[in-house]
Amino acid sequence: PMPITSEVLKCVSAGDFVCPAGSTDYDDATVVNFSDLPAPTGPPRVRRPAHLLSAQEVEKLELALQRMKELPDDDPRSFKNQAAIHEAYCDGKYNVVARSPGEPDATKFDVHFSSIFAPWHRMYIYFFEGILGELVGDPAFGLPYWNWDAPAGMMLPAAFTNPDSPLYDANRKPENERGAFIDLSLSPKVKSDPNKFKDDLLGLIDSNLCAMYRQMNVKEPVDFHGGYPSRTTKPPVGSLETGAHTAAHIWVGEHMGNLKTAARDPVFYSNHSNVDRMWHLWSTKLGNHEDLTNDQWLNTNFVFYDETKRPVRIAVRDVLDAEKQLGYTYEEKKSLEWMERRI
Ligand code: C2O
Repeated sequence: PMPITSEVLKCVSAGDFVCPAGSTDYDDATVVNFSDLPAPTGPPRVRRPAHLLSAQEVEKLELALQRMKELPDDDPRSFKNQAAIHEAYCDGKYNVVARSPGEPDATKFDVHFSSIFAPWHRMYIYFFEGILGELVGDPAFGLPYWNWDAPAGMMLPAAFTNPDSPLYDANRKPENERGAFIDLSLSPKVKSDPNKFKDDLLGLIDSNLCAMYRQMNVKEPVDFHGGYPSRTTKPPVGSLETGAHTAAHIWVGEHMGNLKTAARDPVFYSNHSNVDRMWHLWSTKLGNHEDLTNDQWLNTNFVFYDETKRPVRIAVRDVLDAEKQLGYTYEEKKSLEWMERRI
């Protein structure tokens, strides 16, 4: 079987869905290969915890988002088009077709629920971050992460809760807007009782740290990443995706609670910055775990517009090492408390 590429998706976009500018309506002749571009040089961009940003850093993030929201609809870098990329790649908007005789027929494609999850979202927010940096003239701009795995980060980062800020989204569950602590076990599978920790904040924090330990203490790449999308069977979904990631979507709710609308909430990108950080930690600091090694996964590729509106083809093999290949890293000042929470 061949890897999935955005050509395959492009030619069969489903039904009356119109491809958003920014994902797949590029002109093939102008596409550059990411692997032909020079490797990043100089100090890496640093992604910092969203709850620890200085006032100036919040202002810069707000200015970048504001400018992105003001870009016209025919600019693939506009916030609307960036959010539409996510919508395009979920809920089966595209079909994957049989590409060789004997392969089963079309199936719906989704960047979720398989091993495409981590690399696709890494690519997506990498380009998003580059566009934000370009819009404020800062090539070192790093996309802040929502540090929900640490007690001090277990609520919506304050910068995202100011109704006058471009980081705000009115479509969230109001009860979790200010000061409420997230429940990281809130996945549909666990169906945890929302009142379980009502008057027990320490119990909730402890439960969250244990949930982090469980999702991260996974050795086999397939258990962490999930399996490859298949036309015939549902692949297993990885712990990176089913754990805190999904809980954060559900907990923020409304826009975030729905794949189709999730990326319309600016906190989506900081949620995924932390999901990406978890992958980065797992493949480095937590024991240099090996990612999947099959060519089908490694050669899977997509086209995104970069900060200069240039379509760039990027493959999973291009994004395995955040710092060397993509030029960014994560600030880690505190120790990871959840690493000790084996239960
Ligand atoms: Cu594409 Cu967190 O979802």
